[in-house]
Amino acid sequence: MATTNTTDTALMSAIVQDRYGSPDVLELRQLPVPTPGAGQVLVQVRAASLNMFDWHVTSGTPRMARVIAGVRRPKHPVPGADLAGIVTAVGAAVTRFRVGDEVMGDIGWGSFAAYAIAEERQLAHKPGNVSFEQAACVPLAGLTALQGLRDHAGVQPGQRVVINGASGGVGTLAVMIAKALGAEVTAVCSTAKVEMVRTLGADRVIDYTLDDYTEIVRDQHVLFDNAGTRGWRQTSRVLAAGGIAVMITGPKHGWFGPMREAIIRKVAAIGGGKRFTNVTASVKPDDLETLAGMLASGAITPVVERTYPLADTAAALRYLGEGHAHAKLVIVP
Ligand SMILES: NC(=O)c1ccc[n+]([C@@H]2O[C@H](COP(=O)([O-])OP(=O)(O)OC[C@H]3O[C@@H](n4cnc5c(N)ncnc54)[C@H](OP(=O)(O)O)[C@@H]3O)[C@@H](O)[C@H]2O)c1
Repeated sequence: MATTNTTDTALMSAIVQDRYGSPDVLELRQLPVPTPGAGQVLVQVRAASLNMFDWHVTSGTPRMARVIAGVRRPKHPVPGADLAGIVTAVGAAVTRFRVGDEVMGDIGWGSFAAYAIAEERQLAHKPGNVSFEQAACVPLAGLTALQGLRDHAGVQPGQRVVINGASGGVGTLAVMIAKALGAEVTAVCSTAKVEMVRTLGADRVIDYTLDDYTEIVRDQHVLFDNAGTRGWRQTSRVLAAGGIAVMITGPKHGWFGPMREAIIRKVAAIGGGKRFTNVTASVKPDDLETLAGMLASGAITPVVERTYPLADTAAALRYLGEGHAHAKLVIVP
């Protein structure tokens, strides 16, 4: 909600970071409600989901990312990429949205607040039959899963796809999107999440605390690797000849994140008859609308483990950082 101060400036609650560090650097403050510029809309945030991206923004890691995020301190003081909410103002030249529209999107920075500015291209229309909490789970993780499976791997009906790291934000959506694309899905997760992942539609679930999937899975058209727990020598064994490994993440170098490992695997794959690619998800309005359509049809139904009030964003991020959340955590301002 917006309030006003003594000079009649509308104020809002927001999570602010003045420096990089652990989630302890996040503080709840009052900030002026921003005004949309040309091509932008103001969104009243009804829900904002957490991603590992927010962890990286808060911690300023990998260090190379500070070139964009701010070298000495964060250029964007309010973190938060994913949101779902209601358009309350539109700037000049906005054509796809009007005041009152329900929207969802990935805005990069600024969604851990009562109001946020979004570029028009960062948003899609939220389907009326899903909650704000569910819609907020989809943009960043959904773009990653959709672009990884459909565009990088070119998944076709009947193909065999193994998803390592199937129980987190990206992995749960990847299971559902792979099924929607017609694939036969083998999913890898820990014991506590086996039943949840099965209910998402996985044809086979491997508990990684009991079995190493690289020892028992073979002949796959696609490996969607959302955990990066094994190197190229082990992971390439699960692929059929001509199959492709899609790396979403891998061992993270302090300066370069997973990019260093991606280059190592790209080189290792040369001449071996099995392909390798790494994904950096990008915000595309058509893809966001595709995901909104999948939400509307029920092809994807996000799993929300827990919602938190805005004031508890640091606690939510701390829990996400442990790396074992059940699918998505959502902030409700
Ligand atoms: N390339 C891109 O554009 C892009 C976009 C989004 C995210 N990412 C990266 O992708 C990764 C996943 O993101 P997320 O949002 O899904 O994170 P998340 O919600 O924290 O999920 C992490 C997943 O890793 C699993 N995991 C942990 N140890 C494992 C192991 N030994 N074997 C198999 N699975 C294991 C966890 O499952 P259990 O709890 O069952 O252990 C969980 O499902 C992060 O590193 C993130 O930075 C990359």
